[in-house]
Amino acid sequence: FDQVDQDPKDELQELLQTLEQHTTWDGGQLVKYDGIWCATRLLRPIISTQKYFKAKDTDIILSTMPKSGTTWLKALAFAIINRNIHEIDQSPLLNSNPHAVVPALEFDAYRDQENPDLEHIPSPRIFSTHISYNTLPDSIRESECKIIYICRNPLDLFNSLWHFLLDNKSEKYAERILIDKAFDMFCKGNHHSGPFWDHMLGYWNAHLNDSQKVLFLKYEDLKEDITFHVKRIAEFIEFPFSLEEEKQGVIEKISRLCSFENLSNLEINKTGNSDIFKNSSFFRKGEVGDWKNHLTPEMAERVNKILESKLEGSGLMF
Ligand code: A3P
Repeated sequence: FDQVDQDPKDELQELLQTLEQHTTWDGGQLVKYDGIWCATRLLRPIISTQKYFKAKDTDIILSTMPKSGTTWLKALAFAIINRNIHEIDQSPLLNSNPHAVVPALEFDAYRDQENPDLEHIPSPRIFSTHISYNTLPDSIRESECKIIYICRNPLDLFNSLWHFLLDNKSEKYAERILIDKAFDMFCKGNHHSGPFWDHMLGYWNAHLNDSQKVLFLKYEDLKEDITFHVKRIAEFIEFPFSLEEEKQGVIEKISRLCSFENLSNLEINKTGNSDIFKNSSFFRKGEVGDWKNHLTPEMAERVNKILESKLEGSGLMF
């Protein structure tokens, strides 16, 4: 699934010839498009998304780098928006993986069709994406739709990505993956949605520019105080909780429904599969600072130096 179609007359093949390419540590093929590395197989869907996706003012776009908390954010956004449609104890999240209820633009909606009909999806539509801010379709930036971005300390991001790719690869690859080599690629920005600093800064600057348009969240902050963030997300997307709901504990119920402990123990998330990934691989540990169990202080020092130089003056800190 790393290859795009092999028709030599295809415009995409021609474009591909002009782009920088790279084999990442798990053997996956990456291509640098608009300054960001993406899986080669996603190039066509990303271009279709850019070309055809028409955002509505009521849309909610969840943007992330892989392993930043996408699954959690999907569950939270879905539960908040649909709280008046499904009782919390009847939530579709109890029987479906969060990725099955919130489609990703490039992985799902545009994966097999160049210009799918997305008009029939009831508003507010929720989509996720790993596309960088500059590469988003113009209509997302120009409409009144809302963007929620979640990012994560890059050391935990790398650690999570490394385990995820290992978990979903065949034994053959797993044996060959060396953490040092993978880490070196990560630090050079050669990873899915990398360089991580550019991906984060794109959304960070967009948030500074218009905080009503882009909500910028950090995984660590959600771990620290989920109740506050459930409320904040609901207010941002203009679905605030009423006093009555607050009194009834709806915020706490949603937080509990979407918690790592709850979701990771559901049958669907223990045993199910999306088409290429095991559902369980989206729920590993869900902790802050697990990198300490896998990376050395020298590795941390290298990432910290990168952050110091790349984020300098931006106001973004970890
Ligand atoms: P770890 O590998 O550190 O455990 P993504 O959803 O972007 O793919 O990110 C996956 C990471 O988020 C994994 O991190 C996973 O365990 C964690 N995660 C998934 N669901 C979560 C939840 N409900 N609460 C907190 N963390 C969660």
